[in-house]
Amino acid sequence: VVAKRSYHEKVLDHYSRPRNVGTLDKKDKSVGEGLVGAPACGDVMRLHIKVDPETGVISDVKFKTFGCGSAIASSSYVTELVRGMTLEQASKVKNTEIAKELCLPPVKLHCSMLAEDAIKAAIKDYRTKNPHAMPTNLAGT
Ligand code: FES
Ligand code: FES
Repeated sequence: VVAKRSYHEKVLDHYSRPRNVGTLDKKDKSVGEGLVGAPACGDVMRLHIKVDPETGVISDVKFKTFGCGSAIASSSYVTELVRGMTLEQASKVKNTEIAKELCLPPVKLHCSMLAEDAIKAAIKDYRTKNPHAMPTNLAGT
């Protein structure tokens, strides 16, 4: 019987080898930024997405997270998840999905919420910068 560890190994994997750490040029019109904080603990996550204006597909994603292991793992996982998605698809990503994949315990659910909030904020920022670029805007309004 294995002793119960406080972090699931998928969290540890993303935490010790986070994917897509960094920033994109937010002066670029095709880059959207989401900067969000968790009121519960003060942790902060910044997510940048680069969108192909022709297709509305997310072609690149970078993050920087100042927070706990679960927040870092959630952001790392979400960068892999939304790369290649359309904005429409990415806007439907739920924190419960992230928490399930990483087996986050209930007390760490708000860490995955940070990742959902960040991707939503980045999409909103991109759409504000590019009000006419997206065919999916038509369906969404
Ligand atoms: Fe801030 Fe998690 S409570 S690091
Ligand atoms: Fe606050 Fe993880 S984001 S404890």
